[in-house]
Amino acid sequence: MTDFEALLKRPGLAWMGQNTTHLEPPPEVVAALEESTRRREFQFYAPAFGLAELRELIVADLGLPGCTAMITDGAVGGLYHICTVQAPGLSRLITTDPGWPWPGRFVHLQGVPVTTVEVYSAEAGYKLTAAALAEVIEPRSLLYLIDPLNPLGSSYRRDELEAIVELARASDAIVVHDCTYRHFADGHTLVAELYPEGTLTTYSFSKWLGLAGLRLGAVVGHPELLGRLTGTPSAPLGANISAQRAAIAGLRVKEPWLRELRQVNSRNQQIVTEAVEHTPFGRVLVRPSHGNFLAVDIGGHRWSADQVCAALLEQDVFIRSGTYQSPAFGERFVKVSTSVPTSWAERFAAAWTGLR
Ligand SMILES: Cc1ncc(COP(=O)(O)O)c(C=O)c1O
Repeated sequence: MTDFEALLKRPGLAWMGQNTTHLEPPPEVVAALEESTRRREFQFYAPAFGLAELRELIVADLGLPGCTAMITDGAVGGLYHICTVQAPGLSRLITTDPGWPWPGRFVHLQGVPVTTVEVYSAEAGYKLTAAALAEVIEPRSLLYLIDPLNPLGSSYRRDELEAIVELARASDAIVVHDCTYRHFADGHTLVAELYPEGTLTTYSFSKWLGLAGLRLGAVVGHPELLGRLTGTPSAPLGANISAQRAAIAGLRVKEPWLRELRQVNSRNQQIVTEAVEHTPFGRVLVRPSHGNFLAVDIGGHRWSADQVCAALLEQDVFIRSGTYQSPAFGERFVKVSTSVPTSWAERFAAAWTGLR
């Protein structure tokens, strides 16, 4: 397990391992945090489902009229709650390898079996195909669909989601559409538009707004479906109140902020890709990535993914081994986060080029 506390003590470290955002934040967001502190809002609890304005802004950001949002302690707090509440009625959870391991672990704790579909192949487009899903879906499944997919950077087209939804609807399955990286995608369709009665959408402020340490996210769904979760809220005393003020400020300046962020992100993806291409080993798997990260296949090299990461860490560049997100393929790839200062991407490039 990575020792994050030790990494936090390294002031010169380029944080390119957790898909967090490290640009100069919008001044409006910083001002909202300062104002909240000045008013000593930290002495209050927030409402159990979050501030009304924030909940409305999130629904509007997604463009899902008729849905409601429940604010959670990061997207992962929402995922934990979904898994806890839904587990007794589930036959299984279906997800991908590579993917993000936590929801599978959450339901597993409650005795629900987990099926992981392997998607590390160009033929599959590095994502879950409807054909592969058809082989494993059964009544009362929960499909945990990460889109864009951390760690590969693939995203689902509307027609692909339509085929997936057809299967989900026929099996009365719940789809949890994890949209943590949606704001980085070029064009993104919400499963909730196609399957409103069976979809819960999870939302995060950690990546696009760079609020990872403040722990703020949401679950969005139609009132009937969301009602199963709000009956017993996951954070009955409310999520971080100052974080909610910061998130409101961020959503108000979303357009210019995203323009800048996405520009930096693609520039950095270009730098990282060129560095990888100009060395004899490594291959960017999905280009362009729809997330703020790139997966780099290192197959055929004598080093393991963990060894590559260790070598870069010696150069003060933190990237992530695939082993964190993929039992089946983890030794074959590393992940490099790109919503960071361009000087960090250049440091990555220099360190990668120096690998022998
Ligand atoms: C796919 C996915 N879902 C959820 C999360 C957690 O997001 P949050 O920081 O909002 O809890 C992450 C964080 O890396 C993630 O990659």
